[in-house]
Amino acid sequence: MKKELPERGDIVGRKEIEQFVDSFYEAVRGDEMLGPVFDQIAKVNWDEHIPKLCDFWETVLLRTGSYKGNPLAVHRHLMKDVGMGRAMFDRWLELFGETMDRHFEGDNAGHLKRVAADMANVIHSRLHELPVTGLAGAASRYRT
Ligand code: HEM
Repeated sequence: MKKELPERGDIVGRKEIEQFVDSFYEAVRGDEMLGPVFDQIAKVNWDEHIPKLCDFWETVLLRTGSYKGNPLAVHRHLMKDVGMGRAMFDRWLELFGETMDRHFEGDNAGHLKRVAADMANVIHSRLHELPVTGLAGAASRYRT
């Protein structure tokens, strides 16, 4: 007999952001390509990194301003060790989308996927000094 899956809801606040970020980084750490970047190269302190990433996505979605940092500089540091090529960003985005779709659906979930895609394009292009193309225009939602 076919089992009904529980209905997925949208990301509405900090609670869902924390659930998403936890599952996403679990997938990232288990990934053959990306896991070693975090655990062996950057030797990430997960107790600090996870709340920082929750602040980041909360600031994107709810404009809380709780994230203060410079993602571009952080990723630039990784270039000499791991290259930060397009394939890595594509894998990062694939895991981001899979995790989101597994747990959430709705306007905010879709918005965060578009912001992630735009940011991946921007960070990748800036690091490699390429022109920025193909943006989903996710930021325009907040323009007045
Ligand atoms: C190739 C794909 C990526 C890799 C391998 C990667 C890896 C990393 C690593 C190793 C750190 C440092 C963690 C630490 O030392 O505490 C970091 C930080 C961070 N990443 Fe990524 N990242 C990727 C893509 C992205 C994308 C596309 C975004 C945004 C949508 C993003 C957002 C951030 C943020 C906000 C931080 C925290 C920066 C800070 O310390 O203020 N990353 N990332």
